[in-house]
Amino acid sequence: MSPRPEPVVSVLLDPDRAGDSLIEDVRRGLGSQPRTISPKWLYDDRGSELFDQITKLPDYYPFAAEHEILSDFAPQIAAASGASTLIELGSGTSEKSRILLDAFTATGRLRRFTPVDVSEATLRQATETLAERYPGLRVEAVVGDFTLHLAQLPAGDRRTIAFLGSTIGNLYREERAAFLGALSDVLVAGDSLLLGVDLVKSADRLVAAYNDPDGVTEDFVRNVLHVLNHALGSEIDVDGFAYVPFWDPHMERMDLRLRAEMPQRVRLPGAGLDFTLASGEEVRVEISTKFRISGISGELEDVGLPVRQVWTDRAGDFAVLLAAKPTG
Ligand code: AVJ
Repeated sequence: MSPRPEPVVSVLLDPDRAGDSLIEDVRRGLGSQPRTISPKWLYDDRGSELFDQITKLPDYYPFAAEHEILSDFAPQIAAASGASTLIELGSGTSEKSRILLDAFTATGRLRRFTPVDVSEATLRQATETLAERYPGLRVEAVVGDFTLHLAQLPAGDRRTIAFLGSTIGNLYREERAAFLGALSDVLVAGDSLLLGVDLVKSADRLVAAYNDPDGVTEDFVRNVLHVLNHALGSEIDVDGFAYVPFWDPHMERMDLRLRAEMPQRVRLPGAGLDFTLASGEEVRVEISTKFRISGISGELEDVGLPVRQVWTDRAGDFAVLLAAKPTG
C-alpha cells in the first residue's frame, strides 16, 4: 500500500482579513453612491454558518437543484472533464465536492483536489474529512480569495476548475467579464471550467428564496454589519436597519439591501470614514444575478471558453455548464 498523502493547507490570505483589502473595499463601497458593502465580507464564521442554514431552507431552491444535477450527472461530468486535478473555488464545507469527488475518483484519473475558500476554519475541517474519505487523493487546500489568487493555483496537470452554487451571480457584469477572462488566462488547452448558475424564473419564487419567514437570510445579510463593527472598531447599530430584498427585472438579479430606519451615524475609524446615512437610505450588500443559458454561454465564448455541455435539474431551475479551453 502506498502511504496516504498528508493534506496540505496553504494560507494566501491575511489571517485577520481586517487588512488592507477590507479597509480599501469598505472605503470604496461605503464612500460612494449608491453605497455598497461587498458580499465577500458576509462569510466570517457566523456568516458561513448562517449560509449553511440558508441552503437547508425549503424555499432556497438553488442548493437542492444543483445538488440534484451533481447527483444525477456526476459520472458524465467526470467523463467529460477528464481532469487529474480538480480545483473548487469557494468550496465552503465541501459537501457538494464529495459528489464530484466520488465520480472523479471512480474514473481512476483524479490525483489531486484543491479546495479554495476564504474561511480557514471551514477549509481545515473540510480538508481533514476529505483526506480521510479519499485516502489516495492529494488534498492541497488554499485559503485564498479567488478573485486575487487564481495565478497561484496548482498547475501542470489536466485541470477542471469548479465554481458552483451560482456564486458568480455576486459579481457585476464587468467584474464577471474580468473574472471569466482571468480564469480563461490561467487555463491551458484541455483544462475546463465547471460553472453552476441559477436561472431566471418567476419573481415570486426568487423573492421567496431570499426572504424566508424565519429571517435566516435577513440575519445573514445583516451579519455583514457585525463583521464591520468587529473588524474596523465601528459601532453601527445593526438593529437600526431593515432588510430589503427585491427582484430587479431589468438587470435580472436579486438585490439585497439594508435600509437605515432612522438617521445613522457611521464612524469607521479603521477605514477613515465618518458619515451619516439619512433615514430611509439604503446600502446594497449583495446582488445575485440570475442567468439564461444562452447569455452565460455567450459570455464564456467571448473569453475563449466555449461551452461543451450543459446539465439542468428536472425542474429547469439551475444549470451546470462545462466550458473548455480549446486545444490548438
Ligand atoms: C452563495 C452567492 C450563491 O446568491 O444565492 C443566499 C448567497 N445570499 N441567500 C446566492 C445568498 C442570500 C448565494 N450565493
